[in-house]
Amino acid sequence: RPIAILISGRGSNMRALIDACAAPDFPARIALVLSNRPDAPGLAVAQAAGLRTASVDHRPFRGDREAHERAIDAMLREAGVELVCLAGYMRLLTPFLTGAWSGRMLNIHPSLLPAFPGLHTHERALATGVKLHGCTVHLVTEIMDDGPIIGQAAVPVHADDTPDRLAARVLRQEHHLYPAALRKILDPDGADDPATESLLFL
Ligand code: GRF
Repeated sequence: RPIAILISGRGSNMRALIDACAAPDFPARIALVLSNRPDAPGLAVAQAAGLRTASVDHRPFRGDREAHERAIDAMLREAGVELVCLAGYMRLLTPFLTGAWSGRMLNIHPSLLPAFPGLHTHERALATGVKLHGCTVHLVTEIMDDGPIIGQAAVPVHADDTPDRLAARVLRQEHHLYPAALRKILDPDGADDPATESLLFL
C-alpha cells in the first residue's frame, strides 16, 4: 500500500519506516516523503534511499495554513498515497487536512498519551516525576496529539535522567513502535512481532 511520510527535521522515525518498508513482507511502500522545510536533513536521507521527495515550504503561504495544506494534499493525491505518517512534522494541522485524511493519518508522539501532549515532553515527564514514560502512535484528529491510540511503547525513567538521556531512550522505542503500529493498521489480523516483547502494547 502506498504511503507518504511527512517530516520537518532529522527524520529518524522516517528512517525506521524506510527500513521496515524494505522488508518484502511489509505491507507498505513509501510513495512520497514530503517536508515543509526544504532544508530538512531527513530529505537527503530519503533521497539517498532512492525515494521520491518533495518540499512544500510553508513560509510563502504567509500563515494561510489551509492553503499550505491544500498544496500538500494535492501532492499526496497525485502520488496515489493511501495513508500518511507524520514523523516529526512540526506544523499544527487544520481541520482541512485532518478531515481529508481522517482514519488514514498517523502521528508519533514522544509521550504516553494522554499524558504530555505538545512540546517538551521529556522535560515535563521528569518534572512531574513519572516513573514510566514512552511514546504513542495514534490516528490524527482535529485535536493535536489526540485521537485513537494504535500503539504505545514504554520506558523506565531513571533517577539520574536528563531530558536528553530520556529522549534517547524513548526515541529507540519510537523506531520499533512506528513500523509495528503501521503494520498493525494495514494488517490488523497479522501477528505481533515477537521481537517487540512486552514494551510494545499494540
Ligand atoms: C520524535 O521524537 C517524534 O516523536 C516527534 O518528533 C520527533 C521527530 O524525530 N513527533 P525524528 O525527526 O523522527 O528523528
